[in-house]
Amino acid sequence: MDSIISTSPEETERFGRRLGEESSPHSVFALYGELGAGKSTLTRGMALGIGVLEPVTSPTFTLVHEYRSGRLPLVHVDLYRLEGPQEAAALHLEEFWAEPVVVVIEWPEKMEDLLPRQTERWELLLLSEKERMIRRKLA
Ligand SMILES: Nc1ncnc2c1ncn2[C@@H]1O[C@H](COP(=O)(O)OP(=O)(O)OP(=O)(O)O)[C@@H](O)[C@H]1O
Ligand SMILES: [Mg+2]
Repeated sequence: MDSIISTSPEETERFGRRLGEESSPHSVFALYGELGAGKSTLTRGMALGIGVLEPVTSPTFTLVHEYRSGRLPLVHVDLYRLEGPQEAAALHLEEFWAEPVVVVIEWPEKMEDLLPRQTERWELLLLSEKERMIRRKLA
């Protein structure tokens, strides 16, 4: 399924769960969408699909979160606070996608030119208070 309209956070999470179940080592997911679109909600579902046991949170000043309790390590990156590509380069995320982990990036536009070739891009569009379109985004 390359596109759905989700009508609840739970439905978005369920969709993420499936993406997580299907993810393989070295997967990189770039999640595009405005504030409140549901990127973190989708990520929580992906974590469940990978079998992560810890709660997936987004403390404001930590850009990179690693969860190691699942079938594969999950690295959750939130670039919202970054100024741009120089700061993104300084994070050396390439060290993560060289490893057998799953990387999920919110606000990937902050490092568009640094994303690896295998990046799967998804966009989340706010349709109404409860409705979100989630679909594959062409590079
Ligand atoms: N269908 C839906 N799918 C996902 N979230 C929904 C949906 N309907 C309502 N919401 C609400 O929208 C908000 C989504 O928040 P979330 O933190 O996932 O967004 P985000 O894209 O990560 O935002 P940010 O850019 O601030 O990190 C939550 O408050 C959630 O309850
Ligand atoms: Mg978020």
